[in-house]
Amino acid sequence: MSEKTVAFPQDRTCPYQPPAAYDPLRTGPPICRVTLFDGRSAWLVSGHAEARALLSDDRLSADRHNLSFPASSRRLQDARGYAALFGADDPTHNTQRRMLIPRFALKRTQALRPWIQETVDGLIESMTATSPHAELVGDFALPLASMVTCEVLGVPYADHEFFVIQSRRLHNGPEAADVDDARTQLNGYLHKLIEDKRQKRGSGLLDELIVQRLETGEIDVQQLADLTSALLVAGHETTANMIALGAFTLLSHPEQLAELRDDPSLMPTAVEELMRFLSIADGMFRVATQDIDIGGVTVRTGDGVIFSTSVINRDEAVFDEPDTLNWHRPTRHHLGFGFGVHQCLGQNLARAEMEIALGTLFERLPGLRLAGEPGQIPVKPGHDTIQGVVELPVTW
Ligand code: HEM
Repeated sequence: MSEKTVAFPQDRTCPYQPPAAYDPLRTGPPICRVTLFDGRSAWLVSGHAEARALLSDDRLSADRHNLSFPASSRRLQDARGYAALFGADDPTHNTQRRMLIPRFALKRTQALRPWIQETVDGLIESMTATSPHAELVGDFALPLASMVTCEVLGVPYADHEFFVIQSRRLHNGPEAADVDDARTQLNGYLHKLIEDKRQKRGSGLLDELIVQRLETGEIDVQQLADLTSALLVAGHETTANMIALGAFTLLSHPEQLAELRDDPSLMPTAVEELMRFLSIADGMFRVATQDIDIGGVTVRTGDGVIFSTSVINRDEAVFDEPDTLNWHRPTRHHLGFGFGVHQCLGQNLARAEMEIALGTLFERLPGLRLAGEPGQIPVKPGHDTIQGVVELPVTW
C-alpha cells in the first residue's frame, strides 16, 4: 500500500468524540488499512453494514494465541491473552457462553433492579454525607460496577480493591508483565475462592457453576477460574466508564440533560444513545482464518481486522446527524455492545446499572456540576481497551 494510512488507535481529545485523526476513516471506504503501534498494518472496519457482516462471519477468529492477531499496544501484544469467552472461537466459545446465559437473562437482571437501586442510593448517601465534592469515578461509578459484579458472581465485595486493581492492570497496566501478573494474581485468588465455596456454598453464579458444571466434571477448576476471571474484568471497567463518561457527557449537553430531567421515562433510550455516542469499547480485534471478499477488498488469511465502534456508530448511512446526541432516534442498531457470537453477555445488566445510576444521580443532586474546567478532565489514552475519563471531580 503506497497511500498514507491512519494510525490506530489514537487518543481522544474530547472524551465523548472519536479522535479528530479518525476523520479520514469516517469519510473514506468502509474498510481500509490502518497502521498499528509497531508499524504493522491491519484492516479497520468503519462501515456499519460491513461490521455486522464481518462480526457474524466465522472466518474471523477471536483467538489471541494466533501469532497474526493484531494488537493496539506492545503490552497487549506481548501479554497474549484470554483463553475464555472473548478469546475463544466456537465450538469452545459457544459451550462456555451457554453455561452463563441463564444468569444474564433479562428476567434475572430485572429481578436485580431493586438491589441495584438500593446500592446506588447507599453510594450517593455516603458520597454526600460529609462534603459537597466527590470524584465520581472512584466514589461512585467504580464501586457500583464492582458491587454489582460481585453480587452476580457471588464473589466477596470485601475483596473488591483487589479486583479493581487487577482489572485495571489487565486493561491498562503499562507493561505486558503487569497484564500477566494481574492474570496470575486473579487466577490464584479464584482457585482459593472456588475451593472455599466447595466447602461452604453461597448463591452467586460461581456457586451455580460449581454445582452444575464443576462437580459434574463438565469443566475443571482452571476453566472455571478462567470464566470467572473474564466476567470479573468484563463487568468492572466497562460499566464504570460508561457511568462516569455518561455523567460528563450529560453535564456537557445541558439541553439534553434538561429534557431527560423533565421526562425520566426517556432514560432507557438515553442510555442506548449514550452507548452509541460514546462507544467506549472502541476496538474489537479479530484475525482472518480464510480469505474474505468484503466492501470491495479482499481480507487475506492472517490479516488482522479491527472494528472501531466510535466510527461505525457514527455511520451516516444508518444514523442521521450522527454527531448529535438525540434521545429520540432508534439506536438499538448501535454496535456499542458488539455484534455476533461475542456480543456482550452482560448488556442487560449494564443497561440496568446505567439507567439507575445516571437517573438517580441527576434526580438526587439537581445542582450536580463539574468541579473544574471540562478541558482539564483527564482522558484515557487511545490504547486502553476501554475509553473514558480517568477522574471526574464534581460538586453540587
Ligand atoms: C456498558 C458496559 C459494557 C460495555 C460497553 C460492554 C461492551 C462489550 C463488547 C463491545 C463486547 C464484545 C467484544 C468483542 O466482540 O470482541 C463485550 C463482550 C462481553 N461482555 Fe460486555 N460490556 C459491558 C458490560 C458488561 C458487563 C456488566 C458484563 C458482565 C458482568 C459483561 C460481560 C461480557 C462478556 C462475558 C463478553 C464476552 C461475550 C462472548 O465472548 O461471548 N459486559 N462487551
